[in-house]
Order: sequence, then C-alpha cells, then structure tokens
Amino acid sequence: MATAVRYALVQANLDVPMTESIDTIRQAGLDKYCRLLRTAAAEGAHLAVLPELFALPYFCRTTDARWYAAAEPLVGGPTIEPLRGLARELGLVLVAPFYERCDGRRFNSAAVIDADGSVLGVYRKHHVPSCHADSYEPFFFHQPDLGFPCFETAAGRVGISICYDRHFPEVARAYGLGQVQVLINVSATSGPASERVWELEQQAHALANGYFVAAVNRSGRGAPFDSAEFFGRSYVCGPDGQIVAQAGRGTDEALLVDLDLDETRSISERWHTSRLFADLRPGTYHPSTSITTTTVRHPREDHSMTVAVRELRYQPIMTDEMKAAAINALEDGRLIRSRYDVDSDGGRFEAEVCAYLGVRHGVAVSSGWAAMHVAFLAAGIGPGDEVITVPNTFISVGDVIELVGARPVFVDIDPNIFNMDPARLEAAITPRTRAIMPVHTNGLTCDMGPIRHIAQRHGLRLIVDSCQTLGSAYRGSKRETLGDIAALSFVRNKSMTCGGEGGMVVTDDPDLAYRCQLFANHGRGRDFGVAQNSQVVGLNYRLSEILAAIGRVQLRHLDDWNHQRRANAAVYEELFAGRGLPVQLPPEPEWGYHTRMRYVIRATQRDALQRYLDEHGIAAHAEYPTPIHLNRPYVERYGYARGDFPLSERAADEVLTLPIWPGLTRDDLAYVVDTVEAFYR
Ligand SMILES: Cc1ncc(COP(=O)(O)O)c(C=O)c1O
Repeated sequence: MATAVRYALVQANLDVPMTESIDTIRQAGLDKYCRLLRTAAAEGAHLAVLPELFALPYFCRTTDARWYAAAEPLVGGPTIEPLRGLARELGLVLVAPFYERCDGRRFNSAAVIDADGSVLGVYRKHHVPSCHADSYEPFFFHQPDLGFPCFETAAGRVGISICYDRHFPEVARAYGLGQVQVLINVSATSGPASERVWELEQQAHALANGYFVAAVNRSGRGAPFDSAEFFGRSYVCGPDGQIVAQAGRGTDEALLVDLDLDETRSISERWHTSRLFADLRPGTYHPSTSITTTTVRHPREDHSMTVAVRELRYQPIMTDEMKAAAINALEDGRLIRSRYDVDSDGGRFEAEVCAYLGVRHGVAVSSGWAAMHVAFLAAGIGPGDEVITVPNTFISVGDVIELVGARPVFVDIDPNIFNMDPARLEAAITPRTRAIMPVHTNGLTCDMGPIRHIAQRHGLRLIVDSCQTLGSAYRGSKRETLGDIAALSFVRNKSMTCGGEGGMVVTDDPDLAYRCQLFANHGRGRDFGVAQNSQVVGLNYRLSEILAAIGRVQLRHLDDWNHQRRANAAVYEELFAGRGLPVQLPPEPEWGYHTRMRYVIRATQRDALQRYLDEHGIAAHAEYPTPIHLNRPYVERYGYARGDFPLSERAADEVLTLPIWPGLTRDDLAYVVDTVEAFYR
C-alpha cells in the first residue's frame, strides 16, 4: 500500500452566470476541473477531490419516510463517464461529490473512482426532513448500521463524509475505527464568519482519530452562495491536529500536499464518543430507536434499494445512575423492609413520592394491583358492597373489586377523554354503593371536581386508580387527583418503572395508611416490633429495596420525562395538523395537566393501521381492545353483552397508542405521522 501520497485538493469557484443552462454550467465546471487536474497530475498527484460545483442540488422528494434516512444508490449521471476516463488517463484516484440533473432526471454521481477508472462505490448522502417544505436537506444523523463507507484506493484507505457530518464526533470516530487514512469532507466549510470554528472541528477529528482530514471548499449557486467570499477555503489537517496546507480564499487551485500515511495512527475501541454523549444528556434516555434495513422501491424513481427502517420499540429507561442505585441497595444487604422502617430506600421512596404529590402517607408495595388491593382492604370494602367504575380500562380494576367480594358497577365514559363521565354517576348509585373508583387514563385525570362532589354528597369513598397519571394535576393540584386513597403503579409500561414492577398507595388518612401497611406485610405495621403480633390477616406485597432504590432515582427525572412526552405530543399535533387524516388526537382539557403517558388517538380501520405501523417498525398498541364487561368472567357472572356501554366499546374499537416516550426525536415522530398518512393514502 502507498505510504507517500501526493494529494490534490481542488478548489474552484463557479464563474458561469446562473442564467446559463445546466448543461453549459456543467460543461464549464468540468472544463475547469479537467484543467486543474491535468496540472496536478503533471506535478505527480495521486489523489484528487473535487468540490460540488456545477450541478443543481439534488434533494430527495418523497413522503416515504424510509427514504429520508437512506443513502441513494449510485445512479451515474452525465459527469461520471468523463471523470472515469480522466482518472484512467491521469492515473488519479478521484472523489467526485456530484448530484446532478439532466433531461429532468436526477442522478447521484457521487462516486469514488480508482486510478484505473473503476467506480469503487458511492458516497452516501443521508436525508432527513428539513425546514424546506418539499425537499430534504442532506443531513446525517448517527445510525450505527447505516455504515460509513471506507474505500481501498490506489492512494490509501479513504473515507468520505459530508458537510454536516463535521458536527458528529461519532461519524469521525467510526471512520477512525474503520482505519481510514484520509477522511475527505467533501463539503466542509462555510463563510468566513464561522470558518475557524469549522476548521477546529476538523482538526479535532484528525487528532482524535489519527488520520488526515481533507476539507474541501464547497461552491454553490444562487445568492448568497455564488459569492466567492461565502465559502471558506479548502485545507488539510494532519493526524497531529495541525492544518498542514490551506488554499487561498476564493482562488481556483489544485492544492498539492504530500501526505505521509505512516503518520496515521490506529485508535482504540475503548474510547467512544457516543458514551460521552450518553453520559452528558440530562436524564439520559434509553435508546429506543434502531434502524434495520429492507428493500423498497422509490415511489417516483425507477429503482429499488435497501433502505433503513426506523424501529420504534419502547424500552424502559435504565441509566447508569439507576443501575448504581440498584447495586448499592444490593450491597446494603437489607433487600426488604420487614418493619416498614423509614430509614431505608423504601421509606425514603415513600416520603419522596408523598412530597412530590403533596400527600401525607405512602406505602410502597410490589405493584399497582397490590396498591389497589390493599386500598380496598384498608377501606373495608367487601361482600355486598358496590363500587362504581368504568369498563374501558385494565382488567385489574374490575378484578380487584370482584376479589374483595364487592360488585363492580360500570358507568360509561366521556368519549373525548376516555375517562369516567361524572354526569352518569348518580344514576348508578344504589343503597349498596360504598365507593367510586375513578380511573385516570393515559396521563390525564378524570374531571375530579364533580366526582368528589358527588362522593361527598352520598358519603362514598373515593378510591382512585392513579396508575397511569403520576405527575399529572387537576386544576393545578397533584393532590386533587388522588381522592381519599389512590393506587400508583410503576410497572414496566408506566412513566416510571422501578425495575419492572412496583406500586404505592397514597392517602392523607393515617388510619388507612396504617391498615395498608398491615395488609401488605403479613399483618405487620411499622410498630410490629412493639406489638409483636400481626394485626390483620395479611398478604405479602412488599416492594424490594432494590426496586425502591431505582424508583427514587427515576422520581428525580420524572418531570423531565413528562415534559418530553408533552413536547412529543405537541410535535404530533403540529405534524398531524392539516393532513386531513381520519384520526382524532387526544385533547387536554383546561382543568387537566396531561402527562401524555400514552398518546392515544382514535383511528378508523384501527387494526389494519396497527398492523401497517408494525410492519414499518412502529410499536403502536390498542389498549384495551376488550372492555372489562365483555371479558368472560364478567359476561358469565353478570350477563353483560355488547351494547351495554357503547361509548367504551367504541373507544375499545378505535383507540391506538402511538409512540410518545422520552428520547424519541422529531424525526421519529415525523416517521410515525408519515407512516400513518401513507396507510390512509
Ligand atoms: C389503569 C391501571 N390500573 C391498574 C394497573 C395495575 O398495575 P400493575 O400492573 O402494577 O399491577 C395498571 C397497570 O398495569 C393500570 O394501567
């Protein structure tokens, strides 16, 4: 392999008026390049890089989101053949970053051509939607399996990156790990104002990765791009991070630089910038987006290609901070709280959740189910009692009422918010009614004011299922969402997940709280050591110290995550607006602070849409497709049938939960919305 390489970095400016035809502009540019290349070759150049000069920018125009993230195949346009001939004739390795249009067709002629004229491969250009309404700026974002092509040329191992890549140390690193000797940034510089900053980035990449960086001046067309001053200069950085050669400003020249490839260094896998980035992000989100590849046809062009498909699959957040907390709890050795002592992770977790919610007492338990169960036992609900709740929710709501021996009495929902409709409550109250169980769904509470009013008027307990709404508020108050006693869940799919399971029951009533402790821990409360015997026939619903320790860390990030979810919901609203799709987005009533724990839309042809999204890598769920009353135990016991609660049944047929979790990017959400649109088109 060559070690002494004479490199010709071509810098040239376009001096043909924009008013000329594309063909004239291309020919003038080509003539100029050929002249510069011949001079360079005569002076012994082995490798030459051309600036993007004479072709109109070629932007991908498609609504198929999968194309944004993909690189186009090489579709050689009119410039490729003359350049191949020139490379062969001059014995030069040529890098030609050209996107061009000819006769109404668009070509990606961005190729690496070896000294014998063979095309080694395509320089990739990645697309994501930009601020332009109908076109996509080339912009790279790091996706591990999209690859960074390294080319084995007669003049060394070469990597190509594009202008925006300069901001991404991961990209530069990937080339370093790919043992590239010369990284060519084919469009590296901008105007004088920011030129020095851009140069410093390139120098840092060269130093950190032990290779040469050749940064090529970009020329464009159209004001202000056609002004020579707008663009910076071409230059080369050595593996020591120093600029070793730099072209003049606004000149036409082939800058010849002798590169000693022996100066390049190989780097270690151990140092990886993505780790640095991960550690710096506030709250650090677990990556839930990955990219797989599939073959698709371009919707407008006559070719198919392998493209990247986004995989949006939910992953609970589990950061190093949380893992460290779990390990501490493990090493502490206590593992469980047999006496509900406050000086423990569980005890602190209870106190911190209470402070967060503005409520007096909390009892950490092993699940949301456990929280509901002990709440009912503590409240003394049992055989002969009726509890009013809704059918369009998780089965455990009906089950817990059944299992304490009471009867669930369902009322239908407010179809706009999927929650209990207070206007239907009073008609369901009988002399046997002991409690109302509002279920807050998807991150939004029920309209608690009227519900509380009715409960008070009829002397009923308000036992709230708050498993899905940690962090939400009713008329500005978190406390107002909780009723007399409320159950929280930290199971895997909730806003906070501990280590996969967890729950808490919260109340202002010390008696209720104490009784919850007893039921959750074999009849033993925090005074067990004094009383020395169990007080009630109990269960074991203790939360492990390890899970509590993780929960404590998560609680500190919860508001940040909820903000992220809300921001994602706002992006959905913006992206869905004006598309005329047969979907209904979830509103936020003026009294509620919606944490957007789930983003539940109503959609026509829901099941088919769900399948389509799944095929496109998007995890969308129908929660809960069968309302409680239509599940077998309830049909058999009470004779419920379809039609009994039509609003809940209709919701069950139409709801679809779209990805909303923290860490999703705007591009992820755009991919979801575009895919929904593609389904209905
Ligand atoms: C509304 C509702 N109630 C109760 C539960 C039960 O919680 P867990 O799964 O933690 O037992 C859940 C969650 O699964 C829920 O979403």
